[in-house]
Amino acid sequence: MILLKTKEEIELIRDAALLVGKTLAEVGRHIRPGVTTAYLDSIGEQFIRDNGGIPLCKGYEGFPAALCISVNDVVVHGIPGDLFIKEGDNVSVDCVIELNGYVGDSAYTFPVGEMKPEVLRLMKVTREALYIGIDKAKPGNRIGDIGHAIQMHCEKNGYSVVRELCGHGVGFKMHESPNIPNYGVPGTGPLLKEGMVIAIEPMVCMGSKNVKFSQQDGWTCRTKDGKPAAHFEHTIAVTAEGPEILSSFDYIENNN
Ligand code: MF3
Ligand code: CO
Repeated sequence: MILLKTKEEIELIRDAALLVGKTLAEVGRHIRPGVTTAYLDSIGEQFIRDNGGIPLCKGYEGFPAALCISVNDVVVHGIPGDLFIKEGDNVSVDCVIELNGYVGDSAYTFPVGEMKPEVLRLMKVTREALYIGIDKAKPGNRIGDIGHAIQMHCEKNGYSVVRELCGHGVGFKMHESPNIPNYGVPGTGPLLKEGMVIAIEPMVCMGSKNVKFSQQDGWTCRTKDGKPAAHFEHTIAVTAEGPEILSSFDYIENNN
C-alpha cells in the first residue's frame, strides 16, 4: 500500500531530509586521502545525534554503521571500516535519518582530489540522471516513466543501471511502497499521485550492470567487472505543482 502524506507531514519529512543534506556535507568536509571510512562514519553519526536525529541505517537488518560508504567499484551498501580513502577515489555516502518521527534519505558521490576524467564523467551523468528522473515525478505519470528516463540518460552515455536495487517510498519509514526502479517502460507501473514521497536513487555503472553482494558481510554491493559505479539520491514529494526535492545538495555544493 502506498501511503500518501499531508502537506504538514511533507514539511516534517523535509526537516529530516535537510538534516541528511547537512550530514552529507559535514562528512564531505572530512573526506581526504588517509582517512578511513570508519572515521567518516563516526563524524556522520556524531553530527546526526548532535542535531537530534537517529541514524536509521544503524541496526537496520543488522547493518552495523550510521552511513553506507561505497568506494570505487562498490556501488552501494559499503560498510565503513578500516579502508583508507585515497586520491582519485569516488566515495558514495548514503544516509537515512529519522527526525521527530519522520524519515529522509539522500546520497552523494564525492570525488577525492585529482580524478580520472572518465570517473568524473560517470559521476556527472549519474547526478544528471537523478534530476532527469525527478522531473518525471509528477501526478499522472507512472513509476516506469521515472525509471525509463534515468535508464535512457545513462545508457545513451555508455553506462548501465543496476537492476537488483531500487529507489523506494519513504517518509514514515526508510522503505515504503512503491519500489522505484532505475529502468523501465514509459506508461507502466503505479500511478504517481499528489502526496507520494519517494527516494529516487540511480546506481550507475561505468561497465556492465552486473553486481555481486559480499559473501562475507552480506551487504557490500560491487560491480562484477570491478569498474567504478556512482550513486546519487534525493527524497522528493510529488505535489500538484510537480516534483519537490526535500533533501538538498546545496550544503555540499555551495558550502552552505
Ligand atoms: N539509502 C539506502 C536505501 O536507500 C540505505 C539502506 S541500506 C541500510 O535503501 F541497510 F544501510 F540501511
Ligand atoms: Co534510499
